[in-house]
Amino acid sequence: MFNKRTKIKQLLASGAAGQELTVMGWVRTFRNNQFIALNDGSTNNNLQVVATLGQFDETLLKRLTTGASIKVTGRVVASVGKGQNLELKAATIEILGDSDAEKYPLQPKKHSLEFLREKAHLRFRTNTFGSVFRVRHSLAFAVHQFFNQKGFVYLHTPIVTSSDAEGAGEMFRVTTLPMENPPRNEDGSINYKEDFFGKSTNLTVSGQLEGELGAMAFSEIYTFGPTFRAENSNTTRHLAEFWMIEPEMAFHDIEDNMNLAEEFIQYLIRYAMEHNKEDLAFLDQRLAEEEKQKPQQERAEMGLLEKLNFVLNNQFERITYTEAIAVLLDSPAYKKKKFKYEVSWGIDMQSEHERYLVEKHFKKPVIVTGYPAKIKAFYMRMNDGCEAGKETVAAMDILAPGIGEIVGGSQREERLDKLEARMADMHVPAEEMGWYLDTRRFGTVPHAGFGLGFERMVQFVTGMTNIRDVIAFARTPGNCEF
Ligand code: 4AD
Ligand code: MG
Repeated sequence: MFNKRTKIKQLLASGAAGQELTVMGWVRTFRNNQFIALNDGSTNNNLQVVATLGQFDETLLKRLTTGASIKVTGRVVASVGKGQNLELKAATIEILGDSDAEKYPLQPKKHSLEFLREKAHLRFRTNTFGSVFRVRHSLAFAVHQFFNQKGFVYLHTPIVTSSDAEGAGEMFRVTTLPMENPPRNEDGSINYKEDFFGKSTNLTVSGQLEGELGAMAFSEIYTFGPTFRAENSNTTRHLAEFWMIEPEMAFHDIEDNMNLAEEFIQYLIRYAMEHNKEDLAFLDQRLAEEEKQKPQQERAEMGLLEKLNFVLNNQFERITYTEAIAVLLDSPAYKKKKFKYEVSWGIDMQSEHERYLVEKHFKKPVIVTGYPAKIKAFYMRMNDGCEAGKETVAAMDILAPGIGEIVGGSQREERLDKLEARMADMHVPAEEMGWYLDTRRFGTVPHAGFGLGFERMVQFVTGMTNIRDVIAFARTPGNCEF
């Protein structure tokens, strides 16, 4: 029976020699025709299985190659060798699946992350990706625990949508119309009335607008699902398919929103630090080695664990957009013309500006509020009493060291007249969005919410520099393998 097996993590943690048990896993290495390093994905710590010399068939031993899967029954004994306290003295070894050592792509040596990206179907079997994906799992679990404890309702917003309201970027079209010869209107445009949904549809860029509808009944909801953006951004921070967590809260203003976001991020970090100690210690070490390869001035000031502890123990800096621009204009980087893009009130800050604020100036996560209305989405609440031409909205972005923007959010415009004016201004088709405007017509309330990019959060906690290395199978421009 397969379910009688013991997981290696459990076995190593139990600390008790003497038990007879069965383990299953994949051979990492086999040395001296005697010692198998066995891994089952529950931990990076391999179990040493001892195949006592002379006790096993030569033909069986030959099949104990890297990548082969085996079932071993034996007795747990105290280890005399160094590197582990316990080992398993094998009584029986059964090969479940052979692995041709000549052909198996993962050799028992260090492979580059680029190489492993090409072998993403096997990279879970390496220490780095074992750790990254166990941490990712923990963070996902912690997301639900955090909101569940607070009484938020988990709302599943649709993946396919006909609304183009966010304006967050290019969308992927969803259609069943024949590409070669689509039905056309008299003016030559494509007739989406004949499409599957009777209208033009896309993959969602955000669940927020539907989330707001939920918040107007449950008070507090959150979404956690995949979102899609067809931006042609080939960077270490962008995916075409990424996961986003979007809480939406009635009876919250921008201040409450910031407090929740900060508490949430700290909760996630704390959860991983408590539940993934070994994996984070491994990733801390891995990053330290990676940093050593860099020239001195490009190295991060803090190690991974040091950075996470720092973020837990220090409040995020809170500044307005106007203050941020003043800091930039006053910076040595600006005066020495080190910025590639211009700096002036009204710009959409570029990543070089955000990184300067977070990594050089404040050296901690920063929440920026009060962005110019012109560069933000239509649903953000207009701040009262602004100078003409300098209108700002109650937006907030959280910028994190090494990542840049990790959260985007705002207080929402709950005043129907102001919202309609802004939609007209920004050419948002109000006539198609009666359902959204209804929340402002019937019992509107002050409300707010934000979106946390899950992969960027996983990057922050694991220290992985490329976002392609924290999602199982990355979708980026020109790449949709697996
Ligand atoms: O700032 P964004 O576009 O905000 C929204 O979508 C709002 N509807 C959120 C809300 O208020 N409910 O995206 C939110 C976050 C960003 O801060 C970033 O962390 C992440 O989503 N993100 C991406 N992550 C990976 N790849 C991309 N292409 C991303 N685009 C945004
Ligand atoms: Mg944003």
